[in-house]
Amino acid sequence: MSRALRVVVVNGSPSRTSRTMGLASLVTTTLENSIDIDVHHVNVYALGPTFTGATRREEISGHVEQEIRAVETADILVAAVPVYRASYPGMFKHFFDLVDQYGLANKPVILVATGGSDRHALVIEYALRPLFAFFQAATIPVGFYANAGDFDGALVLNSEVYSRIEVGINDVLPILRAISDDSTEARPDPSAGAVHRPNL
Ligand SMILES: Cc1cc2nc3c(=O)[nH]c(=O)nc-3n(C[C@H](O)[C@H](O)[C@H](O)COP(=O)(O)O)c2cc1C
Repeated sequence: MSRALRVVVVNGSPSRTSRTMGLASLVTTTLENSIDIDVHHVNVYALGPTFTGATRREEISGHVEQEIRAVETADILVAAVPVYRASYPGMFKHFFDLVDQYGLANKPVILVATGGSDRHALVIEYALRPLFAFFQAATIPVGFYANAGDFDGALVLNSEVYSRIEVGINDVLPILRAISDDSTEARPDPSAGAVHRPNL
């Protein structure tokens, strides 16, 4: 028996009309064309002062706790950022500083980034992938990047970006289908102590 996979998009952009969200939405639409998914969005810039002011998980509000738990219990995480100063925005990193150290272990993570130009396209490889390697997450091999010239507003116009997403998602569909088919249960809550992994 298969079930809808829970996909959580974490968007690290503060923009109302966000290119990053536009690109991430293209990824989830492509997923939707092949597998049954429920999509939830977390906009880190909208989480408010208990999030921005927190130095420890105990300090966040119930709502922010729910959003972090949604990420930790997702079947698939889409980590989407605008490039800021050649890396991910600080607010995006702050969110993941509050995520449980083992909360993303083995979770398929799709990496998405947008930038003003292609100069920092490798941000996916030198910044995002190492962050999720720390969490022992299963980042999918192909990352998705687009620059300002690829968009009209938040809409992706460049057909090469569409093709790359098709190819990248097709590569991992067998794994995602297996997750959907094998389990009717939600992922275990890693912070509940069920998962014991070595420290990094
Ligand atoms: C503070 C700031 C820093 C930025 N730094 C970079 C950068 O280092 N490299 C780059 O290619 N674009 C940079 N940009 C451009 C954004 O990454 C780009 O416009 C992105 O597509 C915005 O995404 P959004 O519409 O989702 O906010 C920067 C933009 C801002 C506001």
